Amino acid sequence: MKICVIGAGYVGLVTAAGLAGGGKEVTCVDKLPEKIELLKKGQMPFYEPGLKELVEKGRINFTCDLKSTLKSNQVFFVCVGTPSLTNGQIDLSQVHEIVKEIYAQAKDGSMVVMKSTVSPGTGLKLIREMGRDSIVYVSNPEFLREGQAISDWFHPDRIIIGSSNQQAAKLISALYKNIDAPIVSTDITSAEIIKYASNAYLTVKVSFINEIANLCELIGANIDDVAHGIGLDKRIGSSFLKAGLGYGGSCFPKDTRGLDFLSAQYGCNLHLLSASIRVNANQKFRVIQKLLSVLSDLHGKRIALYGLSFKPQTDDVRESIAFELINIMLKEGATVQAYDPIAADNAKKIIPPGDRLTYSNDAYLNAQGCQALVLATEWPEFAKLSWEKLKGLMVDPYLLIDGRNFLDPHKMRACGFQYQGIGR
Ligand code: UGA
Repeated sequence: MKICVIGAGYVGLVTAAGLAGGGKEVTCVDKLPEKIELLKKGQMPFYEPGLKELVEKGRINFTCDLKSTLKSNQVFFVCVGTPSLTNGQIDLSQVHEIVKEIYAQAKDGSMVVMKSTVSPGTGLKLIREMGRDSIVYVSNPEFLREGQAISDWFHPDRIIIGSSNQQAAKLISALYKNIDAPIVSTDITSAEIIKYASNAYLTVKVSFINEIANLCELIGANIDDVAHGIGLDKRIGSSFLKAGLGYGGSCFPKDTRGLDFLSAQYGCNLHLLSASIRVNANQKFRVIQKLLSVLSDLHGKRIALYGLSFKPQTDDVRESIAFELINIMLKEGATVQAYDPIAADNAKKIIPPGDRLTYSNDAYLNAQGCQALVLATEWPEFAKLSWEKLKGLMVDPYLLIDGRNFLDPHKMRACGFQYQGIGR
């Protein structure tokens, strides 16, 4: 069976590489010629550990030519972007455009497999709108974490296949036969909700632990011990209980806003979800408060910021909390010196360097002359830095705010830092 993956972004490329790695013949289409050229040369358009090796192994055919691909393939994995509109609603224009093309040009019996995250109800709406029964629509949401996407592809917790056509569901299930995971067959809308509800639940968990961390700080408890103690309860589980300065990325913020918008449209507000979004929006201010409590005000102060990607092991800076912090610090009159092991180039495209914002290539020089250092992303290499040396480059009052509870407070205090974590 010839498979076409449409969209060579984080989801599309991993899907193409995962399917090709499982021995399938895969064509990957993207409308951006510069991206396709890179891929043809064996270079990846973004950083994802293990992706390059898997792409090389699978011999994927990369092309910009959607038209001829539509005629020569039967299964179309749709992996295009679904960004947020300003009101929180999901912008489905790219999905619409591609699905319309497939329904107009593909052969009878072809299948649309939706991997892009679409608002629940979208699949049935598209089927009605397109009005061509000889094409089958399947919802097959992705649960890939950036930075761990390859391992998530081959070792997922579950594979969700939503379709009203049992034969199509079986065919798509067969594409995953090399993967040992439960396959859950549902109707299309339930599959769409599973994706949204999973992300929503994870964000509720993160916001919950962040609120408990804030309380721990006031009462004098330690969130590390508290999260450990809570997480050992199997009904709760220990993952996604890491307190910090909040969640970011291209998925959680967008998907939670999208579900919040959709639920309000149906007059069924999801109160827990709305609260989790609010908690997350406020969490970054804990860092600013901590800075102010020691520095009094930020005007004329020099602050070193470590970590620009929204989490480690990725160069993705979309909705990274680091930017929100930089913007607030600049607005308050501070000078910011930022460092990230790999995401600085992407960061510069969002906030270009200026009089009071510099991006450094050197993790040590980045701290030079700074009164405070904020750790915004827990890159493993930060643990290997010589913190004595960093402290030596800084100036009084040597404030260190660990926004990810990543560093050892005792060691940092022993180095001479005024260390503050979140709820520690
Ligand atoms: C998330 C989901 O984990 C994936 O299952 C899903 O497929 C993906 O979104 C998507 O919808 O495409 P991702 O955005 O790559 O994946 O990142 P996560 O590892 O989930 O982290 C998201 C954010 O939550 C990060 O900013 C991270 O720092 C934060 N987080 C996570 C915490 O603050 N505490 C935690 O305990 C866990």
